[in-house]
Amino acid sequence: MADNENIFEKITEENMPWTDMVLSKIDGKLKRLSVSARGKLPYTTKNGVYSDFDGYPDGKNVCWWTNGFWPGLMWLMYVGTKDERYRETAEYSEELLDKAFDVYDLLHHDVGFMWHLSAGVNYRLFGGHRSKVRALHAADILAARFNPSGKFIRAWNGKGNKGRVIIDSMMNINLLYWASSETDDPRYEYIARAHADTVMKTHLRPDGSAHHIVDLDLETGEPIEAVGGQGYETGSSWSRGQSWALYGYVLSYIHTGDRKYLDAAKRAAHYFIANLAEYPVPLCDFRAPETPVIYDTSAGACAACGLIEIAKNVPEYEKALYLRAALRILKALEKDFFDQNENEDPILKNGAVAYHVSEKERAMPLIYGDYFFTEAIYKLKGNDMLFW
Ligand code: GLY
Repeated sequence: MADNENIFEKITEENMPWTDMVLSKIDGKLKRLSVSARGKLPYTTKNGVYSDFDGYPDGKNVCWWTNGFWPGLMWLMYVGTKDERYRETAEYSEELLDKAFDVYDLLHHDVGFMWHLSAGVNYRLFGGHRSKVRALHAADILAARFNPSGKFIRAWNGKGNKGRVIIDSMMNINLLYWASSETDDPRYEYIARAHADTVMKTHLRPDGSAHHIVDLDLETGEPIEAVGGQGYETGSSWSRGQSWALYGYVLSYIHTGDRKYLDAAKRAAHYFIANLAEYPVPLCDFRAPETPVIYDTSAGACAACGLIEIAKNVPEYEKALYLRAALRILKALEKDFFDQNENEDPILKNGAVAYHVSEKERAMPLIYGDYFFTEAIYKLKGNDMLFW
């Protein structure tokens, strides 16, 4: 056996004491929260305590795009520990989400984030009929947003958004791949692949960076214009969008086996890694002025998940590049941004909602940062259940 055969196992094994130490800290926090935060769908924190999104009127907060991450986090912990408290909280949260189906008119393409990680994981673990129905219902809502002429999935509702597509969508389409295999009906996958192909042309730039938002022609799917999104400006480089592209494309490769998606993920990854040359935690935008310095820990955590999946899917002699890049990010997140206060709920500090937001929203805990950090650490531990 050549020295660096099984390099993935060798590197993860070497780092296992660190991985176990981090998992024990995460479990220490979440075990308590699995009980005390039951009944919430946390988005961020208030005074160190997990709290729900509260920006929509009339009881519609349940439609907020991040509401699947808490049950998803509970499922990660359940799979990792088999502690029933995690399962109970995940199932409780899944039921809370039913209200969002009733509100309906605020639902958007993020039904993928919301139900693939909640009901979708529950169904894949336990096969319950009610969870299957919820996940398939969400898949139908997502598929119905497809524009068959322009070949893209519309992101948001409302005036002016008919042709609006955002890079985040690359994570939502995993729900469609699952729906095709579950129903033995290829139409969902056709839609997912058509969308992924369009976005590869319209959002992924030749240098591997990604646009956040592009308005597309409704008939042809050709880009009309890129629009400034959550990054610094139009044409800049919002790091969370970059991580959506990186992880999203490797997931499309895993679900389809189509090599062009892996190549796209690698291109996004090389750009991401190059931008971490000085310090491994990404700035909110890789092309912003030197000050203010705004980090986005959620982008780092999501990218680390994607890098680990790339490492699993490339030939032996390429693996170390991606796996070591993921470890470098995760170690810096743990060292510099782990909330060590056991009385405070979040795992990671300094998520950035966007660049042009209040000071507070530029540096706050985000449930998806906690989710992706935990997912990445469990990947290092060898938990191979793909939640996406
Ligand atoms: N999907 C919205 C965001 O990443 O903030």
